[in-house]
Amino acid sequence: MAASSGYPALAELQGSDFLSSADITADQTRQLLRLAADLKAERTTIHLGGRCLGLIFSKASTRTRVSFTVAMARLGGQTIDLNPQVSQVGRGEPVADTARVLSRYVDALAIRTFAQEELAEYAHWASIPVINALTDLEHPCQALADYLTLQEAFNDLPGLTMAYVGDGNNVAHSLMLCGALLGVNVRIGCPKGFEPSAAVLEQARSLAAGHCQIEVLHDPVATVRGAHGLYTDVWASMGQEQEQQAREEAFAGWCLSEDLVAEADGRAIVLHCLPAHRGEEISAGAMEGSSSRVFDQAENRLHAQQALLAALLAN
Ligand code: CP
Ligand code: NVA
Repeated sequence: MAASSGYPALAELQGSDFLSSADITADQTRQLLRLAADLKAERTTIHLGGRCLGLIFSKASTRTRVSFTVAMARLGGQTIDLNPQVSQVGRGEPVADTARVLSRYVDALAIRTFAQEELAEYAHWASIPVINALTDLEHPCQALADYLTLQEAFNDLPGLTMAYVGDGNNVAHSLMLCGALLGVNVRIGCPKGFEPSAAVLEQARSLAAGHCQIEVLHDPVATVRGAHGLYTDVWASMGQEQEQQAREEAFAGWCLSEDLVAEADGRAIVLHCLPAHRGEEISAGAMEGSSSRVFDQAENRLHAQQALLAALLAN
């Protein structure tokens, strides 16, 4: 799993953290997608031998938790659930102590939490790779699976357009950053007041400079027109449950419906990171229609994360 095996840029990822989509280079992103596709097609197999990934999840998860667990099993390793409810983390043991202790037992940590700063603190104190399994700011593992799914549909990513309709949230942020690295134009369409972070937008535009465009629009039809990937996510993310009703009102007219799909490129695919709320951010018809790739996308979490773990934990 190094230069000799056809993924030379991945050799440099060994031992690294993956806290943001922008933590890796364009070459590394492309090679991770290629390795993920090769693993999925069984053109290659990788065994790391007895490695252990710790999962610290302060928020609910189905896909991320299970796909990391299965990915480690396929690499010949295992995972340990270190949820705050069952560890001393939930009783206030400092991150600085937890990270240093866990570094003596496990080979990497995948962490799902609220603040990006907490993730960064784990990475600071840990001597092993720390992976962002979702924070309020980013969901970089999701973006790898998203672009793997777009690549499966269109083969070549540069020049394609990914249109995201909805809240300018963690998923939108990683979609912009990863898209910029891959040369994909990314349009974020949202109601006024729900734009992505200005800092992430600026970072994505600087990564995109000269080869693709990152735009924020306030009109759903203009967002999806001619696009190749149509993407949405929940209006109220984990931690925003109290805002659910206000957000439902603010996002009226922003449902990814069959009418919006009809405005896109004829070959466009419909994506959603899941879990989905049919009748809110996505219509049942768009979710279950012939353009939908949401379950391929969910499957691709497994292949993308297997590739990522193989690169970070390579011998
Ligand atoms: N898409 C995603 O991260 O799903 P989970 O919350 O189920 O992990
Ligand atoms: N934006 C959503 C993504 C869930 C996978 C959330 O943070 O809840």
